Amino acid sequence: MSRISFTIDGVTVQAIKGQSILKAADAAGIYIPRLCAYRDLVPHGSCRVCSVKVNGRIQAACVQTVIEGAVVENNTPELEEYRSNIIDMLFVEGNHFCMFCEKSGFCELQALAYRFGIAVPKYQFLYPKREIDMSHPHVYVDHNRCILCGRCVQASQSMDSKNVFQFIGRGIRKRLQVNGDSLAKTDLKVTDEAVSVCPVGALVRKRVGYETPVGLRRYDEAPIGDDIEPGKGDR
Ligand code: SF4
Ligand code: FES
Repeated sequence: MSRISFTIDGVTVQAIKGQSILKAADAAGIYIPRLCAYRDLVPHGSCRVCSVKVNGRIQAACVQTVIEGAVVENNTPELEEYRSNIIDMLFVEGNHFCMFCEKSGFCELQALAYRFGIAVPKYQFLYPKREIDMSHPHVYVDHNRCILCGRCVQASQSMDSKNVFQFIGRGIRKRLQVNGDSLAKTDLKVTDEAVSVCPVGALVRKRVGYETPVGLRRYDEAPIGDDIEPGKGDR
C-alpha cells in the first residue's frame, strides 16, 4: 500500500493513497465533524458538515481523497462558522424538539449543536407540517426529524440488500419515501441496519424508548468526536 503525507492544521498526517481526508484524519486522531458519512457506508458528500479547506478551497472531507503534500485546514473559525450555519439550517428546516425526542443524548445533530455551542438557531424556524408513519409494528418514521442524510437509503441497499427507503423531490421539497404505501407495507425488519444508522430521531424502534436513562446516554457521557480525538471534543 503506497503511503503519502499531507498536513491538517499544520500537523503532518500519513495516509494510504486513495483514502479520504476524513478517514485519514480519523486514523491520525483528528476529528472532522460529519453527519451523512457513516463508518462502512460509501460517503456521498451530501451534508457538507465535514467541509475543510484543501489548498485554500472548500471540499467535503468524506469524499475528497488525500493529495500528497496538500495543506488541509480543519479547525478554523471560518470553517467552524460554516459548519455551524449548516447545523443551524438543519434545525430550523425540520421540527427538532430535543427535549421530547427519544434520541436525545444519542442524536448526532444535537451533539454537534452542543459542540458548536448552538443553544438557539440564528435562522427563523420554518415549522413545516410533516407526517409520522407509525404503521409498522416495530419501527416508526418521524419525518419532522429527518435531515435527509441518506444513511438509511444506502444502508437498506448495501447492508440489508433491500430498497426500503429512497428520496423524492428536490431542494426544499426533497423527502424520504418508503417503498410501499406505508412503512408497514415494506419488507423492513426491526433488525435492519437501515434502522440503526439514523443519526437523529427520525427512524426509531418502538418499545425500547428510554432503556438508557437521559443523562447516561452516549453524548451525555462524552461529546461527539471524543472517540476520535479523546478529551478534545469538549471545546
Ligand atoms: Fe437520515 Fe434518518 Fe432521514 Fe434516513 S430517516 S435520511 S437515516 S435522518
Ligand atoms: Fe461529508 Fe456529510 S459528512 S458531506
